[in-house]
Amino acid sequence: MPNLSKPGDIISADICKRSIGGLGFLVRERRRKPVVIVSDIIEGGAAHDTGLLEVGDVVLKVNSVDLTNVSYQEALYALRAVKPGETATLLLRVRDGFTSRLETTFNHQGQARTVRITESSVPVVNSEGKSSKLTNGGPNLDNRIVRSTPNGQNTRRRESVKKIESKTNSLSELTCGVCLSSNNPTIPQPPRVSAPNDRRQDVSQTVTKVVNDEPKSGSSKMAETKNIPNGHSITNGGNAKWNDLNGNAIAKDDVVDATIVARRPTEKTPLVNGIEKPKSAESHTPTSVKPIHKSSSTESNHQPSYHTLRNWETGTRTNDTLYTKCMKAQSVATGCTRNKCLGSVMNPDHMSIDPRKNVRSKEEKLEMAVDFIKQYYGSMKRKNPEMEKKRLAEVVESIEKTGSYQLTEYELIFGAKTAWRNAPRCIGRIQWNKLQVFDYRHVDNTAQMFDAICNHLKYATNKGNIRSCITFFPQRTDYKKDFRVWSSQYIRYAGYGQPDGSIIGDPANVEFTEVCIKLGWKPKFGRFDILPLVLQANGEDPDIYEIPPDLALEVKLRHPRFKWFEELGYKWCAVPAVSNVLLDIGGLEFPAAPFNGWFMGTEIARDLCDVARYNVLQDVAEKMNLDTRNTSSLWKDIALVEFNVAVLHSYQSDRVTIMDHHSATQSFMKHYANELKLRGGCPGDWVWLTPPISGSITPIFHQEVLNYILHPSCKYQPDPWKYHVWKGKVNKVKKAIRFKELAKSVLIMSSMMGKAMANRVKATILYASETGKSLEYAKTLCDIFNHAFAAKVVCMDDYDIVHLEHETLLLVVTSTFGNGDPPENGVNLGQTLVELSKPEESQKPRMQRLLKRSSTAPDNLGTDKTRFTSIHNVTPSVRRRSSVAMEPIDLPDIGEATGLLANLRFAVFGLGSRAYPHFCAFAHAIDTLLGELSGDRLLEIGEGDELCGQEESFRNWAKKVFQIACETFCVGEDVSVEAASASLAGQDRSWSPNKFRIAVDPEDVEEPALLEGLSNFHKKKVSGCKLKKRTNLQSGEQDRGTILVEFDSSSSSEIKYLPGDHIGIYPCNQTEIVDRILERLHDKVDEKALIQLQIFEQRTTPLGVISNWLPDKRLPACTLRTAFERYFDITTCPTPQLLKIFADCAADDKEKARLLELSEGKSEYEEWKFHFLPNLAEVLAEFPSVRVEASLLLSQLSPLQCRYYSISSSTDVYPNEVHCTVAIVSYNTQGGSGTKRHGVCSSYLNRMELGSDICCFIRPATSFHLPKNSSAPCLLIGPGTGIAPFRSFWQQRMYDIKQGKQVGEVALLFGCRHPDRDHLYKDEIQEAKNCGAITEYHTAFSRLPGQPKQYVQHVLKEQLADLAYDWLLKNSGHVYICGDVTMADDVNNALMEVLEKKANISKKEAREHVTKMKEQGLYHEDIFGVTLRTYEVNKSVRQRHVTSKKK
Ligand SMILES: Cc1cc2nc3c(=O)[nH]c(=O)nc-3n(C[C@H](O)[C@H](O)[C@H](O)COP(=O)(O)OP(=O)(O)OC[C@H]3O[C@@H](n4cnc5c(N)ncnc54)[C@H](O)[C@@H]3O)c2cc1C
Ligand SMILES: NC(=O)c1ccc[n+]([C@@H]2O[C@H](COP(=O)([O-])OP(=O)(O)OC[C@H]3O[C@@H](n4cnc5c(N)ncnc54)[C@H](OP(=O)(O)O)[C@@H]3O)[C@@H](O)[C@H]2O)c1
Ligand SMILES: Cc1cc2nc3c(=O)[nH]c(=O)nc-3n(C[C@H](O)[C@H](O)[C@H](O)COP(=O)(O)O)c2cc1C
Repeated sequence: MPNLSKPGDIISADICKRSIGGLGFLVRERRRKPVVIVSDIIEGGAAHDTGLLEVGDVVLKVNSVDLTNVSYQEALYALRAVKPGETATLLLRVRDGFTSRLETTFNHQGQARTVRITESSVPVVNSEGKSSKLTNGGPNLDNRIVRSTPNGQNTRRRESVKKIESKTNSLSELTCGVCLSSNNPTIPQPPRVSAPNDRRQDVSQTVTKVVNDEPKSGSSKMAETKNIPNGHSITNGGNAKWNDLNGNAIAKDDVVDATIVARRPTEKTPLVNGIEKPKSAESHTPTSVKPIHKSSSTESNHQPSYHTLRNWETGTRTNDTLYTKCMKAQSVATGCTRNKCLGSVMNPDHMSIDPRKNVRSKEEKLEMAVDFIKQYYGSMKRKNPEMEKKRLAEVVESIEKTGSYQLTEYELIFGAKTAWRNAPRCIGRIQWNKLQVFDYRHVDNTAQMFDAICNHLKYATNKGNIRSCITFFPQRTDYKKDFRVWSSQYIRYAGYGQPDGSIIGDPANVEFTEVCIKLGWKPKFGRFDILPLVLQANGEDPDIYEIPPDLALEVKLRHPRFKWFEELGYKWCAVPAVSNVLLDIGGLEFPAAPFNGWFMGTEIARDLCDVARYNVLQDVAEKMNLDTRNTSSLWKDIALVEFNVAVLHSYQSDRVTIMDHHSATQSFMKHYANELKLRGGCPGDWVWLTPPISGSITPIFHQEVLNYILHPSCKYQPDPWKYHVWKGKVNKVKKAIRFKELAKSVLIMSSMMGKAMANRVKATILYASETGKSLEYAKTLCDIFNHAFAAKVVCMDDYDIVHLEHETLLLVVTSTFGNGDPPENGVNLGQTLVELSKPEESQKPRMQRLLKRSSTAPDNLGTDKTRFTSIHNVTPSVRRRSSVAMEPIDLPDIGEATGLLANLRFAVFGLGSRAYPHFCAFAHAIDTLLGELSGDRLLEIGEGDELCGQEESFRNWAKKVFQIACETFCVGEDVSVEAASASLAGQDRSWSPNKFRIAVDPEDVEEPALLEGLSNFHKKKVSGCKLKKRTNLQSGEQDRGTILVEFDSSSSSEIKYLPGDHIGIYPCNQTEIVDRILERLHDKVDEKALIQLQIFEQRTTPLGVISNWLPDKRLPACTLRTAFERYFDITTCPTPQLLKIFADCAADDKEKARLLELSEGKSEYEEWKFHFLPNLAEVLAEFPSVRVEASLLLSQLSPLQCRYYSISSSTDVYPNEVHCTVAIVSYNTQGGSGTKRHGVCSSYLNRMELGSDICCFIRPATSFHLPKNSSAPCLLIGPGTGIAPFRSFWQQRMYDIKQGKQVGEVALLFGCRHPDRDHLYKDEIQEAKNCGAITEYHTAFSRLPGQPKQYVQHVLKEQLADLAYDWLLKNSGHVYICGDVTMADDVNNALMEVLEKKANISKKEAREHVTKMKEQGLYHEDIFGVTLRTYEVNKSVRQRHVTSKKK
């Protein structure tokens, strides 16, 4: 039972200390005695539950210990001395200016509830200017705090709160701690007299906290009203520093055996005046929790406090909850106090950092860093708690060890964007997500800074189509070693003070102009002389650099109607690049982080018309013949409006981005609404946001906004010349030498250029590949892009998608597999993009979403896969917003930039084959998804058809995309596209004769076992199996063969599979081909000796350049024969790149010329490849003068890829065995008339000795498993070797039946040439039929003498139409199709025909149904590729393509 004391300002409270959470409150030190003040009350803690403690209470006594005259340490000791379980009797003094009393009331159920009521004792001035004191009861009840105590429930329900509110009329003037801009006394108020009653009610609401507080003892909602001194809610859950009521600074808080709890809003939020508080705002910006405190297990379910803000134009009210984070986070309050508002102060303390005074402690840095890292990871759409934990640990460790840490580039980008988003004074924040970040944190001199700034200016200017960007220079270590841009903006006009007191030029820059002159700059005494850049690196004396005139775009001002205006000679710069603001990110300070947006017209008008600036208004007015004798003629207003007209007109005419104040405020309102939705609030400084002219006719004027500071943030800092300690260096103006020239002349390239390269715009090249081609292309692209960007190649599977939001330039190279599916290593990324593009619906199959139709739930939703074939771009045009040299400049796009990838430029190249119905489908899907996520497409998707012109298409696309990217990012002006694309023409930069060598029998090197070697080489776990048995399944034709191979997997426990899965087998090349290659090698290395491929590496270290031969990371040590047999592809036709290298090694001119011709990769190459399909041995034979070394081949050849086979056994029936049905591939080139070829893997499996080992792994094919619901009907269609997986199915079903499991109906449809020759598994099928594992069996024979060809699709239409309709349309049955891609497509069409006819639906509906089946995991395909009549299919597709190209 709380101990009730006398009313007034002393309260006694008994609090029982808990073992967890202690007394449940935090204290801080006061300057004066008594020293202890309550700073935080832990929600749900002991103090909170009594309801008797309040933030601001001064602790006078703990039990018998008097604290009024003791030190802070002694007081803490007394508080801590109370043992858990014991009761502490606290004597508290109510904070100054308030009185408290306890009041017991009864709720509607008659239950008693005691509440502490705290009221102001200070007289306040109400809106009528009358003074009143807020006292108990009466009309000013609203100023009190009502708090529940555990002995009952609050009687004050919502109605009583309203009653209280309506009586309030003047509280706002008191509550400026969190600055309510509309109540700021220093600014003119909007005329709101027309609705006095409304106004009164609303004002009270802005200061009234209505919370959905649920006391432990009951469930009814209670209302809590209070005024909020210094902007703090009663339970100040953070440790924000604030002042007491007398303005005394209060020291850091101490924990009284307590933990701190982060409050989160719950879903059930109250409706305030009908507008719902944004839901889960905190999910976007994580709550800041002090890392040093443990989180309590009693996570609070209290509602957050918030401010209701009214729009006086529309009458709508919104709640800002975000500001509570400002209090929780290590952020600063606005500096306003209960009785003073700093709203109009230009550089208030809370927005400034003075390095001489504000040295950030390690603890503070740690706290801010942790908060920031949490924000960063919390902001990601894809969460990665593991990574977050790891990163947090890394940061904490670094700060603890070194006192600081480095942001990753992605964190820096996020920090920069968030600082912009948080900037209360910026009106153009709708674009916050579209900020280009240039990372120059590694520069170490002013020349490099200057080069970076030139790049910045060029990028930002973009020929007038201004783009927002920021350039980061090194963070602060010690302010005496700061990097700084002394100029307040890149482009500033000089101001020259004259002896008569007048000023030529811009008065704002007089002081800085003097600094420049002292530094050696020659004044010109004009009105618009552009000042030089004054740059300081590493705390040294600054250097000054003239801005190259071509980088300083200016606009001459003229008026659309007044011709004379132009003659006045006014002009202004195009890019407002602020360069003296400090970026405060994650506890780190970046004193040099210049950034730019674009101008709002009024800013320029003010620069020229303000009295303290150019002060030209009178001149203009006189030219306009206005009556300037008295102000009531409004001549100033008229002239100013015309001046604004001139500014807008001039910029628009010159096609330089500018915003008028109406559009700017409108866009801000949109941003404001977005922000409320996204994160529950938007800090805003009304004084700055409201335009300097026509305020009340812009929407922002009528919007109440809350001003608070969130981190990361932008801060003011003192002018550097005011505290720089000169080292006495004499400065000379630097010529505008660009860094690149400098670097060339000084020849310090290795160190300097290295760093410059590292800091260029990053380009990430993502690839997904099944057989390695896309990787090759990605690498080539990387070579090209590295001429102007910092490019890197990453496999989609290795890419952490969390980085995507912060990428700047993304290039994607990917092939398509299956039947429109991604390559294995692209599946996850593709799926994630789909989820990101439709997060709310990501659980549903995409087609289901598109069709928006309900359907019977499929029984195996777990196995469905995203059908990328259904993701098409409706408008596949380039949505590029940036300008390209040869194109007209786009109109400025200054709209919203809120999409997830709004800052991303991307381009996609797809590899595929037109022999497949879904040509490059996955690449198209990626292209569409990136676009849907608001990425900016640099160039339309490129497509490379392996059947014709793949190389050429890629070359053209790569060149184009490089050129456009250079133009977009204003880089690479000195790079010739041709030179950069040299690698496309075959100059594989990765090869040079002295770069690789073969070390024979190297010391301390052993050959790894083949399994280990292959595992390392392919970065995949490879296992071993033994060939147990091989059976020829065909009879008759001599030259055809299909074999059943049975492997013993007992030695490899990781070989586990389900029916439908694949086995990947690494084959061995034919000995004969390897022999021929070994014979041709110029350097006769012993083929049986152990060799190691080595690469020459040069590194620049502080000790100088270190050169070394290092082992190649890719190829394990092995013999030369093993390398060619097991590791490299020697049968695929060599690439144009390799032919180019061969050309360089050819002694004979004719051969060289021919090789050069082929290496262009154009039609010559294509024809040659198509007809002869030459392997490496044949190419070397065709060009005998080529002197080829082993190191060349081992460094340049592509890896020998595995071949996949559908497993033909059930592990339940054959434990420790894997069976495959393999068609032996052999054919003659040139359509049958040329050389004989043998498929690498199939012939290897056919010739290997029984008992030999194979190297393999299992690839799960989840989308081709039997249905989870085993009674679902299944239709299996597989001609030829397409029957392979179905053997595993019927074996499994036979096993299941034996186990007594209920199984559904299964129909098998098989096709082959002749029943006597290639009727695979005839007897086994009969057996399966007999036991009910197959319920229906149908065959299609294509080569029965005298009979027309019958394929499976014919039988489907003719004999299985009813079954298909019944099972697939009516009974959610499954269909499985396996084998050749053309066959699969033909079957697909046949199925649609059947459904169309049988269900009497349209073609479109039939197609939709089949697509829906695919999305729902009812339609399964296992595609081997183009296997049936390969030559004919390829030839016809090729011919079609060539003809269409000619047309
Ligand atoms: C998921 C999946 C599952 C598979 N399952 C099986 C299976 O169960 N059983 C099975 O036998 N195969 C299966 N395959 C195919 C198998 O992976 C191999 O592609 C096949 O065995 C050929 O490999 P190879 O090394 O013997 O031939 P390779 O040396 O790879 O030669 C094959 C290539 O030769 C060319 N070619 C073939 N015929 C001609 C011709 N007439 N004219 C010109 N060029 C020609 C084609 O470019 C073809 O790609 C599957 C493929 C995939 C992708
Ligand atoms: N060289 C060998 O020893 C050997 C042996 C087997 C397989 N292979 C190779 O492997 C490939 C696949 O062999 P496989 O056994 O799976 O099949 P396959 O025996 O070539 O063909 C299986 C059946 O499918 C038919 N078919 C052809 N095109 C079709 C289409 N579009 N739709 C439906 N059915 C179609 C075939 O008819 P038609 O052939 O009458 O048109 C045949 O009846 C072959 O193309 C061949 O390259 C080689
Ligand atoms: C089994 C198989 C299926 C394929 N499916 C498609 C397809 O559906 N669409 C397509 O355009 N290309 C398809 N292709 C062609 C590949 O995309 C093409 O060979 C590409 O060049 C391979 O590039 P990669 O080595 O980077 O994987 C397929 C190839 C194979 C072997």
